[in-house]
Amino acid sequence: MALLGHEKYALASGGNSVQQRLDVAVLKLGMYVAELDRPWIETPFLFQGFVISSEEELAQLRAYCQFVYVDIQQSRVPVDARSGTIPRRRRTKPQAGSPVIYRPPSVPLPRSTDLKSFRKTTRQAGKARETSRVYLRQVFHDARLGHSLDTEEAKAVVRQLVDVISTDANAAVWLTQLKRKDEYTSLHCLNVCVLTLAFCRYLGYTGEDLQTIGLGALLHDIGKTQTPLEILNKPGALTRDEFSVMKRHAEDGYQLMQRTGKLPEVALSIIRSHHERIDGAGYSRGLLGDELELPVLAVAIADVYDAMTSDRVYHRAMPTDKALRMMYDHADNAFGRTLVEAFIRCVGIYPVGSLVQLGNRAIGLVMDADENTRLLPRVLLVKNADGRMREKPKMVDLSAVSNEGKIAAWTIRRVISPGEAGFDPRRIMMEQAGMQLAALG
Ligand SMILES: [Fe+2]
Repeated sequence: MALLGHEKYALASGGNSVQQRLDVAVLKLGMYVAELDRPWIETPFLFQGFVISSEEELAQLRAYCQFVYVDIQQSRVPVDARSGTIPRRRRTKPQAGSPVIYRPPSVPLPRSTDLKSFRKTTRQAGKARETSRVYLRQVFHDARLGHSLDTEEAKAVVRQLVDVISTDANAAVWLTQLKRKDEYTSLHCLNVCVLTLAFCRYLGYTGEDLQTIGLGALLHDIGKTQTPLEILNKPGALTRDEFSVMKRHAEDGYQLMQRTGKLPEVALSIIRSHHERIDGAGYSRGLLGDELELPVLAVAIADVYDAMTSDRVYHRAMPTDKALRMMYDHADNAFGRTLVEAFIRCVGIYPVGSLVQLGNRAIGLVMDADENTRLLPRVLLVKNADGRMREKPKMVDLSAVSNEGKIAAWTIRRVISPGEAGFDPRRIMMEQAGMQLAALG
């Protein structure tokens, strides 16, 4: 399926739900698990709500739960209501050796621990972002005019971003939510670079390797400087011919950068292959999974995630949780389940910068990506429970307040849009990062 290809994204369907409580013993592949008998956070499952798609997931459900609630309408197989009547038995702890989701090696990302240090690192990240943004805008302008590109400066930009990620990855990723429609292509390259650096550092890449991957990510769409602007900025679906032209950017970028003779092979591979998918349905060469290096797939994931969560002339930004969910649902075809799971663990189920409404209806911005508290991150509270804007945003650690017995009020109810929140989250971010509001455009 080429759904996670370049420009075609769709929201997952919603709808009313009818739930049936079922013993884990009678669960079947294709059933939609809407709720567990224990907090999701205590299980290896990434999402609240999923279709059982493997024997491994069935085994995990049986290891961790006694019963679950199955959504009848969202299930892909019939759900027998009679099987829901079950005798109660004692819940047993998962035994040693119980199957768990395979987890690749991961390195905790550095993060600041309080609002003061977060502000400080956000300001550093803001400065690095501005330098990178100005560089990319210039590079895209120069490349379109056929001028040669300064790869040394690109290396300096990546070095600066690696430093920021190594100081406080959350602050840098937080700022990827600062998007602008008018500078989409260059800002997208910057965001993909930041997300990729955070992801690859999480996967254990360091030093020169991280630098090389970052360089490929920063310039991954440089070939779009060869794409006619009327196609690049077309407000609406591309025709088949136009899409063929658009697809050329991967190969064009590769040729352009190869000619400089100054980019490492892995960076060139990233530029050439970031639209390939493991099932062979990607472009330009239709490569298969085992022909794609891990850094290429890491950039491909960051690329799709940033595109899905950005406003474009032809589609509205998708909420972060829905985008991750959709990527997860298509992981087997696109990037591989293990790697997508690792990305979700890295950025969090509620990624930093997500706008969330809490149980008490207060509204804030997620500031954390600690996988141990993935459902209870730290949130920068912007609106109080009574709906009033706070004079000064306040940091709230949801895992701490929920430990005080206030779990219903202080858990995340849902991700919301800026329109629903009634304020522009980018302004809050700009203030925290000490950036000029005028730069928002
Ligand atoms: Fe691309």
